[in-house]
Amino acid sequence: MANILIIYSTTDGHTKRICDRLKQMVEAKGNKVGGKLIDDDPGMDIGLFDKVVIGASIRYGKHGPQVYKFIRANHDKLESRPSAFFTVNVVARKAEKSRPDSNPYLLKFLKQISWQPQQLAVFAGKIDYPKYTFWDRQAIRFIMWMTKGPTDPQAVVEFTDWDSVDDFGRVVAEM
Ligand SMILES: Cc1cc2nc3c(=O)[nH]c(=O)nc-3n(C[C@H](O)[C@H](O)[C@H](O)COP(=O)(O)O)c2cc1C
Repeated sequence: MANILIIYSTTDGHTKRICDRLKQMVEAKGNKVGGKLIDDDPGMDIGLFDKVVIGASIRYGKHGPQVYKFIRANHDKLESRPSAFFTVNVVARKAEKSRPDSNPYLLKFLKQISWQPQQLAVFAGKIDYPKYTFWDRQAIRFIMWMTKGPTDPQAVVEFTDWDSVDDFGRVVAEM
């Protein structure tokens, strides 16, 4: 049995839902899993865990600055144990941008950090227009219009493939 930490950064909660699903899957394989919002405890000692998974969503083209900071602060501990990273964004709803070697945000992110996670994943996120502020809604609708996605301001669309989240859970349990 391994003691696994899943740490995440989220704005609207969807990355947390993905973490909860991963937790279920990894625990079902006989492991102990702790889940934590990165902002709640940026100084936590990840050295207490056998494996670490970090998940973060994209907002206006970027992962949050706290994600970079956390990775920098924990570089050596991340490198010295099995570790994984996953990104959540809506560009990933397109098959050709849904893999670690084809998702533009993940490719850019990996160039910006010196940590080399052993396992990577990309998950398509969720659009929830009614929940957004006026300007966020307009901005995302414009991006969706440009990329032929949903633009109805009432639309709530979840693009996540939960089977691929489960597959990644199995990978984390075995890494
Ligand atoms: C204000 C805002 C900006 C976003 N910017 C992007 C973006 O630049 N590219 C993208 O693929 N997805 C973008 N998204 C989609 C989010 O990545 C997606 O909604 C994800 O599920 C959010 O996860 P979270 O709830 O864990 O933060 C954006 C969403 C919002 C609300």
